Amino acid sequence: MKREQWGSRTGFILAAVGSAIGLGNIWRFPYMAYENGGGAFFIPYLFAMLTAGIPFMILEFTMGHKFRGSAPKTLAKIHAKFEWLGWFQVMIAAVIGVYYVAIIGWAISYVGLAVDQSWGADPNAYFFGEYLQLGDGNSPSQLGSVQWHIAIPMIVAWGITFAALFSGVKGGIERAGKIMMPVLFIMVLALIGRMVFLPGALDGLNYLFEPDFSKLSDPTVWAAAYGQIFFTLSVGFAIMLAYSSYLPEKSDITNNALMTVLINCGFSIVSGILIFSVLGYMAQGQGKELTEVVTAGVGLAFVTIPAAINLLPAPYILGPLFFLALVVAGLSSHISIMEAVTSSIIDKLKLSRKKAVSIVCGTGLLVSLSFATNGGLLLLDLVDFFINNIALLASCLIELILVGWLFKVADIRDYANKISEVTIGVWFDLCIRFLSPVIIAYIFGSKVIDTVNEGYGGYGQFDLMLLGWGLLAAMLVIAIIINVTNKKEA
Ligand code: ALA
Repeated sequence: MKREQWGSRTGFILAAVGSAIGLGNIWRFPYMAYENGGGAFFIPYLFAMLTAGIPFMILEFTMGHKFRGSAPKTLAKIHAKFEWLGWFQVMIAAVIGVYYVAIIGWAISYVGLAVDQSWGADPNAYFFGEYLQLGDGNSPSQLGSVQWHIAIPMIVAWGITFAALFSGVKGGIERAGKIMMPVLFIMVLALIGRMVFLPGALDGLNYLFEPDFSKLSDPTVWAAAYGQIFFTLSVGFAIMLAYSSYLPEKSDITNNALMTVLINCGFSIVSGILIFSVLGYMAQGQGKELTEVVTAGVGLAFVTIPAAINLLPAPYILGPLFFLALVVAGLSSHISIMEAVTSSIIDKLKLSRKKAVSIVCGTGLLVSLSFATNGGLLLLDLVDFFINNIALLASCLIELILVGWLFKVADIRDYANKISEVTIGVWFDLCIRFLSPVIIAYIFGSKVIDTVNEGYGGYGQFDLMLLGWGLLAAMLVIAIIINVTNKKEA
C-alpha cells in the first residue's frame, strides 16, 4: 500500500500547527502561567521550548520522514526492542483522546450557553452542579450515570474527528487544518482586539509578564514548564511521528519544525494575553486583586471566563466567540491525537483507513462516555495528571535515551541537514543526549516520588492505584506484549 501524503507544505504546517495549538494553549497554558507565578513561568517555559521543544520537534519530524511509519513502526526501525515505546505512546494518545473530547464537548455546550449567559450569576455552581452534575458521593471510580446533555456534544465532536480522518490525510486532515486554523486565528485576533482595551486589562498583563525571579529556584515551576511543552507541542505521544511520515521526499524538516514550535508558543502567549486582559478587567470591575478572581485548573475556562463574560460589553458575541475558538482549537488537535492511533493500526494490521478509523473512533466514543458521567470530571482530572506528569515525561525521556544513546544522533542531524535549508549544529546533540534527559529525569523522578508519598488531589488510595498507577502499568504491559509477540511472529 502506498503511504498517503500531504498535498502541500502549507497544508502540512497548518495540520502540524493545528495539532499543537489546542486546549493546551487556551485552556491549560494560562492557568499554568497563573499557578506558577505569572511572569515567572516564562523563563522556564522558553528555556524548555529551546532545549527540549525545538530539538524534539526536529527529531520527530526527521524520524517520521526517514522511516515513514507511525510511532511503533518508526521506533522499531530505530531499535527492534523498542517497538513497545511506540505502542506506549499510542496508548498515551488514545487515553488523552478520550478525555480531551470531553472538554471539547463542554466547550460546545458553552458556545450555546454563552449566547444568553444561561450559567447565571454563579458560574461556579452552574458548572459543577447543574452542568456536570457532580454529586457528593462521586469519585473517579464511582461515576454515577451518563449525562446525555454532556455526551451529545461529545458525540458531535467525535463526528467531526471521524469525518476528517475518514476522508484521508490530504482530503480530510489537511483540509480541516486549512479551514480551522485561519478561522481560529481570526477569532482570537477579534477577541484580543476587544479585550486588551478593556479597563483594567493592563493590570492583568502586568501580572502575566512581571517576572518574579525568586520562583526560578522552585523545581515545580520547571516541571510544569517541561510538562506543558511536550503536551502543547504534541511530541512524545505518537502524533508528530505519524504526521511527518506523510511528508513527501522533498521536504524542509528544520524549517517546518521551527515554524510549528514558534507559531504554537506564540499562540500560547497570545492566549495568555487574552485571558489575563479579561481577568484584569474583572478584578478591576469587582475592586479585587487579580489573584482573588481566578479559579485555578479546569475552572479557569469554565468558571472564571463565564463570570468575566457576564461583565463584558456585548457578551452575546464575545462569549460564544471565545468558546467557539476553544472548540476549533480542540478539534484540530483531537483529529491529530486520533490519527496517531489510527495510523499505527493501519501500519500494524494493514487495515484500510476507513476500517481503522471506524474501529478507533467507535471504541473511543464508547470509552469517552465514562467522562460524561457525574464523576467524569474527577476521572478526567486524575487520568490527566498521571498521563501528563508521569507517562508523557517517561515516554519523552526513554525516546531521548533511545535516540541519543542507542542510536547515532549525529545521523539524525545529518539527515535533517541534508534536506533542510537551515542547518543544525552540535547544540542539537547536546540537548538530545545530555541537557534534556538530565532535566527530564530529575523532574520525572521528583514527580514519581511526590506522587507516591503524597498522592494527588486528595483522591483515595484505591482510585490512585487503579486509575493512576494501574492504568500506566496496564499500558506498559500491553505495549510490551505487542512487542514480544511480534518478535515471535518474525
Ligand atoms: N498539543 C495539543 C494541545 O496543546 C494536544 O492541546
